[in-house]
This record gives sequence, C-alpha cells and structure tokens, in this order.
Amino acid sequence: MATSWLARAKVNLVLDVVGLRPDGYHELRTVFQSIDLSDVLTLEPATDIEVTCDLPGIPEGPGNLAFRAAALLRERLRVTRGARIRIHKRIPAGAGLGGGSADAAATLVGLNDLWQLGLGTAELHDLGALLGSDVPFMISGGTAIGTGRGEILTPAACAGPFPLAVVMPALAVGTAGAYRALDAWPALSHPDPEPALAALAAGDWPALSRSLGNSFAAPIAAREPEIDDALAVIRAVAGDRAVMSGSGAALVVVAPTAAQVSELRQRLPACAIWAGSSASAGVSPLTEN
Ligand code: C5P
Repeated sequence: MATSWLARAKVNLVLDVVGLRPDGYHELRTVFQSIDLSDVLTLEPATDIEVTCDLPGIPEGPGNLAFRAAALLRERLRVTRGARIRIHKRIPAGAGLGGGSADAAATLVGLNDLWQLGLGTAELHDLGALLGSDVPFMISGGTAIGTGRGEILTPAACAGPFPLAVVMPALAVGTAGAYRALDAWPALSHPDPEPALAALAAGDWPALSRSLGNSFAAPIAAREPEIDDALAVIRAVAGDRAVMSGSGAALVVVAPTAAQVSELRQRLPACAIWAGSSASAGVSPLTEN
C-alpha cells in the first residue's frame, strides 16, 4: 500500500543571524512560515531503502536527505524493513525554501506511519534536528519562531492565510557558503522579529510587508547581482515589501495583487515566479490508496 505526503516549503519572513556559536553553527532568531508550494513524496514497502526523484540534478539514493532520514529511522529504531520513496520535486533547490529539509521531514512522518513506529511529534523533531537545522520546523510547519540553530521552535499566531509570491532568480545558493559570506560581512543587519509577529497575529499584511528582514540579504546580494536586479523590479512593481528567504536566492513578496504578479512575470522572464498562499501545516497526508 502506497501513501503520498505533501512536503511544504517554508519562507523566513524575518531571519536574524545573531552570531557565531562555539560549535560552528550560528545562533538564529527567525520567523518561519509554511507556504502551499510542496513536493509530493510517495512511500511504499520495499526490502531496502530506495530514493528516486523526478527532477534531474537532485541526488537519488544515499546523497538525498530523504534517504538519510530513512536510514536514521532504521538505525535508531532497529527497523529491518525498507521503503521505496519517490519524490515529485516542485520546490526549487538552493533557493532558501527548505526543499531538501521538507523531503526529509515528510520521510520521517511517512515512515513513522508506514512502519507503524508510533513516534510522537517531539521524537520526530529530535530526529529531524539530527538531519538539518530546519527539519523540525518542516515537520510541523505553520508559523513559528525558530531559535538556536533554528531547531528550537515556538509556535506563533497567524490570522492568515495570506497571499504571497516567491520570485526565484536562476541561481542556486549553497547554505554553508552563504554562512561563510555572512561571517566575512562587516556590518550585519539584525532585523527584529517582533513587529512581524505582531502583524501576523493581527492579520495586518501591509504591516507584515514592512517588517520583513534577513541578515543574509546584503552579503548574498553582494555576491549575486541578479538578486538586487530582481529586487529593484519587485520594488518598482509592488513597493518595498520583499525579502530574501533563508540564505537565498528566493525572494518573498507579501500580499501582492494578481496584477502585480502578472507584471512581475512579464518583467522578470528569467525568474521562476510562484504565487500562492501561506499554509498552516508542514507535512500532511495527500491520499491513501
Ligand atoms: O543544519 P544544516 O545541515 O541545514 O546546516 C547546513 C550548514 O549551514 C551547516 O553545516 C552550517 O555550516 C550552516 N549553518 C549554520 N548555522 C545554522 C544553520 C546552518 O552555520 N543555524
């Protein structure tokens, strides 16, 4: 019996990189928000772990974080069964949208079901944190404050859903390299998450769009001029209401009108543009057959 799972992407509405920690990771204060752009994972019983993906360029097998999630579950819970995991990829890689983490999160949730492991959310979060800093958020999703490496979560209120668009310049940014660029940047910005949290709770989308911020924005835009070019067009079309997500390069536009989205598509032909809305879950079942 195969089961299918939606693995939703995230955006960081605010991302403050507070500083470098002794363990080499960075301390964060971030406002995570799930969006209704998702990969679809289909899981079925097999003898070994097999991971395939329908998008060329995404690693299959052990190089995929979903494979590592399955291997971790097998090792920790002494599972002898396997699973065939098929990933229908829609979240672009290297965009700061958490695509790989979403697939790992859906694998943990889906195999917990398929293998009937009986793990609760807290146990899934702990396992997720071993795979990547934002995997715990990708499991539960919705709206949350992330601290620590991003793995310590506090749910936040959102009066949404609210519309948003994601503009993706045709480039991929690697996370570890982005942190190195940030470390070398002389005057890091430290956006305050509080105004965005208040705006989310009140459902005040214009106020939310004025409260966005990301410590990575300046150091990454300095390396990747396409980002500033796209931002200039977004400002001209929709005003000053965009922010880079994660370590880039995706740009999030809060509450654009349909006319603004179609103008963005016209004026940014080199960018992929997704328009949809915020979501209140991370991983959820799609169908059972
Ligand atoms: O946790 P994750 O595997 O997603 O992190 C990828 C890389 O990003 C880490 O190896 C680290 O260099 C960097 N990172 C960081 N601080 C964080 C999260 C990630 O320095 N809070």
